[in-house]
Amino acid sequence: MSQNNNREQWGSRIGLILAVAGNAIGLGNFLRFPVQTAQNGGGAFMIPYFIFFLILGIPLMWMEWGIGRYGGKFGHGSAPGMFDVIWKHNAAKYFGSLGLFISLVIMIYYTYIESWTLAFSFFSISKTYFDLHSFDAMKSFLYSFQGREVSEHFSTIWPSYFFMLITFLINFWIIYRGISKGIEKLAKIAMPLLFLFGIILAIRVLTIGTPDPANPDWNAMNGLAFIWNPDFSRLGSPSVWLAAAGQIFFTLSVGMGTIQAYASYLKPKDDIVSAGLTTAATNEFAEVILGGSIAIPAAVAFFGITMTTQIAAGGAFDLGFVSMPLIFEKIPFGPFFGFIWFLLLFFAGITSSVAMGQPIVAFLEDEFKFSKQKATAILGIVVLLCVQFVIFFLKFGFLDEMDYWAGTFGLAVFALIETVLFMWVFGGEKAWNEMNEGGNFPIPRVFYYVMKFITPTVLLIILVWWFVNDALPILLLKNVNSDNIPYIWGARALMIFLMVVIFVLIKYAWDKKRQSA
Ligand code: PHE
Repeated sequence: MSQNNNREQWGSRIGLILAVAGNAIGLGNFLRFPVQTAQNGGGAFMIPYFIFFLILGIPLMWMEWGIGRYGGKFGHGSAPGMFDVIWKHNAAKYFGSLGLFISLVIMIYYTYIESWTLAFSFFSISKTYFDLHSFDAMKSFLYSFQGREVSEHFSTIWPSYFFMLITFLINFWIIYRGISKGIEKLAKIAMPLLFLFGIILAIRVLTIGTPDPANPDWNAMNGLAFIWNPDFSRLGSPSVWLAAAGQIFFTLSVGMGTIQAYASYLKPKDDIVSAGLTTAATNEFAEVILGGSIAIPAAVAFFGITMTTQIAAGGAFDLGFVSMPLIFEKIPFGPFFGFIWFLLLFFAGITSSVAMGQPIVAFLEDEFKFSKQKATAILGIVVLLCVQFVIFFLKFGFLDEMDYWAGTFGLAVFALIETVLFMWVFGGEKAWNEMNEGGNFPIPRVFYYVMKFITPTVLLIILVWWFVNDALPILLLKNVNSDNIPYIWGARALMIFLMVVIFVLIKYAWDKKRQSA
């Protein structure tokens, strides 16, 4: 066994747990989750959500920790090398390309969105938007900031560009500092603050009473009722189930390659059983308890149910960046609450985006023997070049196209591949022992059967369903505004280009290894 002992390592167990929790807890918990829940049957959505948590989320979490720690033993921190050691076949490493591609593509647009949260925390504390009192005015503030339109608030994209650059610099600086001095240190600071801010905001929202005496029904309790009241009739609709599966993937960061990368810096006998469970449970607390108690209940208290339904239909950004700012104007200490809301989002975002960069950096370090500096610089240049398209073509759906293929469809494809490779090709018993090695307690045996049979079958069904329901119509550009078509093709061309480059790099790295062997 070519043990590799020179790899970086996590400094402490608590640091590792916070870092992986930070990876999982992201914008998905505070923006995506409340909107998905409100749109897909409220409390009833929790049924498919928790079923998928049990049969997809938790099993994939353990498998990814297992694959990652195993790959790390051989000096591999990214999926191509990991797949190469679990399946002795020439093609294995190429299947791992998805583990680089998905996290890279998500990083490109996610970090840009994250920069808006930094900007808005600044706009809150400086009261920049506090004279805007209507939805239309606030929307136009957001849209002109994003460069979708020109308004009296922002006539150019440069303020947004400036915050993007700052956000990118912070991200790459942390990635460059490395696992324990960069990512772990960030998590140790950002995660406690995130929970503190989340709890303060949730308490503030739930004690808001009836802000408008003329509308006694508008209060936070009805907000909770709105998000949680089960509408069981919706469970008959496949789209609700697919939305639940998609949310579980996205929020737990499974099917992307980032959990594996973090796990590759463990020692071979470090516990992953309770670590995997703890991070998944922490993510669910942040999502269901905190994520469910802030933005939607606040919107109901201030704008009522009818309006909140419309806001949620407008998507996660309207909820986070339009309705919340309108609320901060109305409450005492609004600039402060606005500041911590957007800072919470920023912390949630940055502890996720640094994780998305890690697979590529590890790939360049491990397979090309590049220095951390060189690897980070290459990633930085690629991401900065690609984000230009996202910034300037935002209104043409460039970001959405990337988000669909990499952030939704790709996850299930990659998850299916890794499950089959680990539980079937590597071998179920071997994989089981690998995951349980060093564990504080054994994984309940029933999960062996879940991982081996149920998880891959459900993934396959979801993929086929997704393909027919969404992917095919999206691929064939059904329901697309014709002005956007060239840009959507542009987004596809960019993704294909990145995929080809990744393939070539994998081939090149392994050819070189063969020569020097
Ligand atoms: N899980 C993160 C969220 O909820 C998103 C993420 C995607 C993190 C990809 C890492 C990798 O926002």
